[in-house]
Amino acid sequence: MQDGLEGKVALVTGASRGIGHAIAERLVAGGMKVALVARTKAELDANAARLGANAFAHAADLREAAACTAAIDATLAHFGHLDLLVNNAGATKRGAFADLADGDFFDGFALKFHACVRLTRAAWPALKARGGAIVNIIGAGGKTPAPDFTIGGPVNSALMNFTKAMAQLGNRDGVRVNAINPGSIETQRLTGRLEAAARAAGIPLDEARKRNLAELNVPRFGTPAEIAEVVAFLAGGRAAYMQGALVDVDGGVTRGLF
Ligand SMILES: NC(=O)c1ccc[n+]([C@@H]2O[C@H](COP(=O)([O-])OP(=O)(O)OC[C@H]3O[C@@H](n4cnc5c(N)ncnc54)[C@H](OP(=O)(O)O)[C@@H]3O)[C@@H](O)[C@H]2O)c1
Repeated sequence: MQDGLEGKVALVTGASRGIGHAIAERLVAGGMKVALVARTKAELDANAARLGANAFAHAADLREAAACTAAIDATLAHFGHLDLLVNNAGATKRGAFADLADGDFFDGFALKFHACVRLTRAAWPALKARGGAIVNIIGAGGKTPAPDFTIGGPVNSALMNFTKAMAQLGNRDGVRVNAINPGSIETQRLTGRLEAAARAAGIPLDEARKRNLAELNVPRFGTPAEIAEVVAFLAGGRAAYMQGALVDVDGGVTRGLF
């Protein structure tokens, strides 16, 4: 059975690399037209060129309120309508609590939480008009707090709450709102974290990877494509009865029920 995405239009934030790039690739492969949004224009243009006429690059710093509305407007102007918003961009700082300043917290919330809220607000009328969907890429850290993730954890918890709240409005307005909680996924973000751990412990990168997997008690890290596949499922007709779902795609790292 097909995803039912052919000819539909998506906006994917954080689509210059990592999980967002894989999502954009998967949606274009599924027949969608996709607006790619992130800050780095050169990377977006290269991705759009690779994906062909069904991809459109829009460079924006989504921490700025006006940039969120402008990204939705640009997508509507380019493709004519909007069926799917994927809120994926996020860059919360990890580290010892004592080393994190107010600015780090504000910055983390500005992108991952407030941009999601603003994009949702700006996209809602267009999604309502099309019976569309939202998929929020959140993170396992929102369910399992950790002392080195005091920004990302609360941001992710807030986004899960927001997803559930918007799902209730979604039932009124005909918009499905669901979320994915990735575990540790092989992207530059993960590599950077493991490199820092290797440096701090004075061990090779490969050893840091093995130690992290052992700590997490998972057999391997996930791939961006594995997250993208679930986005395509949640966005498509086979998930028509999924509303407000928080789907763990984390190799089993989340051990509790909630
Ligand atoms: N990788 C993991 O293990 C993992 C685990 C759980 C959750 N997640 C979540 O999944 C999402 C994607 O993670 P990832 O690992 O793919 O991250 P990544 O490789 O660091 O990519 C982040 C993306 O966000 C964009 N971005 C960063 N700051 C931005 C801004 N101010 N305005 C607009 N775009 C911005 C980046 O592009 P520019 O720098 O060009 O703007 C990039 O496209 C994030 O929300 C992350 O929290 C990831």
